[in-house]
Amino acid sequence: MIFVGELSDIPVGESVRVQGTVPIAVFNVDGELYAIDDTCTHQDASLSDGWLEDCAVECPLHAACFDLRTGMPSGPPAKTPVRTHQVVIADGAVHVVESVPASGAATGARPGVRAGT
Ligand code: FES
Repeated sequence: MIFVGELSDIPVGESVRVQGTVPIAVFNVDGELYAIDDTCTHQDASLSDGWLEDCAVECPLHAACFDLRTGMPSGPPAKTPVRTHQVVIADGAVHVVESVPASGAATGARPGVRAGT
């Protein structure tokens, strides 16, 4: 597991980036935490620098949107999903369980966990 930080380090509407085998972005959407690969599948933009809207993040470079629950892009220019990762919260500490393989389609890992449960 990859230590992300304390739950209080990730306020609602914010994101943090951590290093797994690749960079991973963790988002807090109204108290629900989601983790996806940080690098956009279109080019090399960091999705943790993007904009959250509902349960999706908009890439800051060319505005492709990715569903944080599935990793699927909603439309061009991105065509390939990002991986989703399981988030684990224990005693106020947030961890990510990185999905495998390190490239390819989303794995179906449970992507979101409610803070405080
Ligand atoms: S780099 Fe993300 S949409 Fe182009």
